[in-house]
Amino acid sequence: MHMVVSLAGRDILCLQDFTREEIETILKTAEMMKIWNKIGKPHRVLEGKTLAMIFQKPSTRTRISFEVGIYQLGGYGLYLNAQDLQLRRGETIADTARVLSRYVDGIMARVFDHQDVVDLAKYASVPVINGLSDFAHPCQALADYMTIKEKKGRIEGLKVVYVGDGNNVAHSLMIAGTKLGANVVVATPEGYEPDPKVIKWAEENAAESGGSFELLHDPIKAVKGADVIYTDVWASMGQEAEAEQRRKIFMPFQVNKELVKHAKKDYIFMHCLPAHRGEEVTDDVIDSPNSVVWDQAENRLHAQKAAMALIMGGIKV
Ligand code: CP
Ligand code: NVA
Repeated sequence: MHMVVSLAGRDILCLQDFTREEIETILKTAEMMKIWNKIGKPHRVLEGKTLAMIFQKPSTRTRISFEVGIYQLGGYGLYLNAQDLQLRRGETIADTARVLSRYVDGIMARVFDHQDVVDLAKYASVPVINGLSDFAHPCQALADYMTIKEKKGRIEGLKVVYVGDGNNVAHSLMIAGTKLGANVVVATPEGYEPDPKVIKWAEENAAESGGSFELLHDPIKAVKGADVIYTDVWASMGQEAEAEQRRKIFMPFQVNKELVKHAKKDYIFMHCLPAHRGEEVTDDVIDSPNSVVWDQAENRLHAQKAAMALIMGGIKV
């Protein structure tokens, strides 16, 4: 039994800012949220609280799971397209953060530049959640490890293999996995590796947790004996101009029937979604019995409700 720690008032910008115990506290709370949701037990622990949700980029899962999530907790989610705010006309992030803090109890933001969520958090007096930046997608990784735990009964010692672009989703998967004791392997084309800072963190985390981290450029070698195979789009939001070129470079990294033959028989396939079917993953893999992508998407709701309840003061531990 691990320690349960208080997270009241904390921002969630990048999971590297959290200890293993803190991440496990969120995951345990998420399991509880899911049970309460399934058995219909009311859990309006954020009654009357408001979450501002700023979006600089499109979203299906993040927007809906946060909006539904805060509603189920008894609060209200305010969708704010960044284009409709005075931000577009030059009001600073700092001033926006100061003003929003006078109205709402928490801020979730999806941004291009990670520095924007860092600045929001610096100037806001309420907790700030990163709903995806060019650097990290912490809420995704919380749902991912919740799903892995659900499907495999544990996280520690599992071989979690990410195949594709060393992007925001890869970063958060690496950070959380190595903190939680998984053996994380990332396989990317040359030149598309994760940020060197994140590689260093993953190695340090693994040394502390007893997990491991390995960076490869050979997808077949990477998925050998995998418990989890994870992929994401080859061109992230904001990289549309590179999509054509990336398609050629990344083709050998496609997760298809041939590649998954090298994994354990009972491997699970994961994808943060949206998927570009026929690019990073083929239909016969994403629609196979090994695929857990819909449960993974659902778990965004439970994991984020846990995160909100803990940092916005709904659940005090
Ligand atoms: N996985 C994820 O964050 O999806 P959306 O872009 O639809 O929010
Ligand atoms: N890496 C993708 C994830 C989308 C949820 C992007 O940033 O567009």
